[in-house]
Amino acid sequence: MESLRQIFKTLADPTRLRLLFLLEREELAVQELMQVLEMAQSTVSRHLGILRDAGLLRVRREGTFVYYRLTSAEGEWREVWNLTRSSLRDDPTRTRDAAALGAILEARAVRTRSWFDAVGPEWDSLRRVFHDDTQRARAMTRLVPGGLRVADIGTGTGILAQELAGAGLRVIAVDHSRRMLDAARRKLESAGITSVDLRIGEVHDLPLRDAEVDAAFAHMVLHYVPSPADAVREMARIVGPGGTVVVVDFVQHDREWMKEKLGVMWQGFPMETVRTWFEQAGLEGLGIEVTESAARSPELPATFIATAHKRAEENAGSPSRGGAGQQPKTTRQ
Ligand SMILES: C[S@@+](CC[C@H](N)C(=O)[O-])C[C@H]1O[C@@H](n2cnc3c(N)ncnc32)[C@H](O)[C@@H]1O
Repeated sequence: MESLRQIFKTLADPTRLRLLFLLEREELAVQELMQVLEMAQSTVSRHLGILRDAGLLRVRREGTFVYYRLTSAEGEWREVWNLTRSSLRDDPTRTRDAAALGAILEARAVRTRSWFDAVGPEWDSLRRVFHDDTQRARAMTRLVPGGLRVADIGTGTGILAQELAGAGLRVIAVDHSRRMLDAARRKLESAGITSVDLRIGEVHDLPLRDAEVDAAFAHMVLHYVPSPADAVREMARIVGPGGTVVVVDFVQHDREWMKEKLGVMWQGFPMETVRTWFEQAGLEGLGIEVTESAARSPELPATFIATAHKRAEENAGSPSRGGAGQQPKTTRQ
């Protein structure tokens, strides 16, 4: 009885009702409520105090501002409030307040818009304060089907494997160098990543079964391998129907120093040759994106990203050499 009396007493004032309707829709500062209600601060604050004492408001401080919002009260209060709301659905004061609230929200949006209009292209340097690259990479993977299985071919020290596994993908990382795999293992361990399956093996004879993964990457690997065409054919074999093969490497170049300093076998590749590898591997929908070196370093050649897919239907002309269910040919690490 006493609690009902309190509820009705709280709701008996029209200003408090207006406040409740507004604060149910939006979290608002006292100054914003003053504008909508066209009332003095002392009046607004007094009513807010009564509502807060009744346990109906959540209060949040931000700098010099204090924001209020209706709590999600339960029980008797909720029932009475639902009844009040529906019986005052078409109340003209409520409609007027809703329009004034719309103007307040538009003013908030204008503040943000003007700020970005003023900043414009400077945003790229300002955004660095967020240090949000890792988060962004993680968010991007929400676009990727969960649990996607990916092979990182020629994983080296496992940089890509770490990023992919950290983002929740199931990664098999392959390299023919035991030392590189050891380095990758140490890097993954120190990052607390235990899910990557490290396997030793050659790109032209990958230690994976047919269709064992959904996607295969080779990042800056093919300019080291004796037969890049065989490598792409193997990558096509290990992805399932509809799977993706991605190769990142250098476009053909004349930087002799790379042979001596970096031990490369090929000075990049002409795009025609890249196209032939993918065609011969039975991959479809090839897309090639070339990035000139100037933006990175004039000493470095241009790079390309080549992406293609295996036909989605079952029994698509697979370039398999080992037949269905082929077993890994080399030991797991
Ligand atoms: C330049 S590193 C790139 C590493 C890594 N993908 C990255 O982008 O950081 C090339 C890697 O490919 C591996 N590699 C070269 N030829 C290979 C082959 N025939 N089979 C397997 N791995 C190979 C090397 O051991 C080395 O770790």
